Amino acid sequence: MYICICKAVTERDIQEAVARGAHSLKDLRHELGVASECGKCAADAKHCLKAALEKIGHQHHHFHHHGHHHKKR
Ligand code: FES
Repeated sequence: MYICICKAVTERDIQEAVARGAHSLKDLRHELGVASECGKCAADAKHCLKAALEKIGHQHHHFHHHGHHHKKR
């Protein structure tokens, strides 16, 4: 299944890029050209990227929650 039609990038291409160490959409764009044309695929690519990262257990915690560290004990 194509994720990015403009660049003919498939889900498998993304998985392979992740296996080679890509861990962000920027990396994918760099390696594969995903989302460098129309950008429509960005959301799908991100989704696919996330799934691929989880699969190989290479989870980076990029997402910082700003905010509340309320820990009530
Ligand atoms: S479908 Fe990926 S840039 Fe157009």
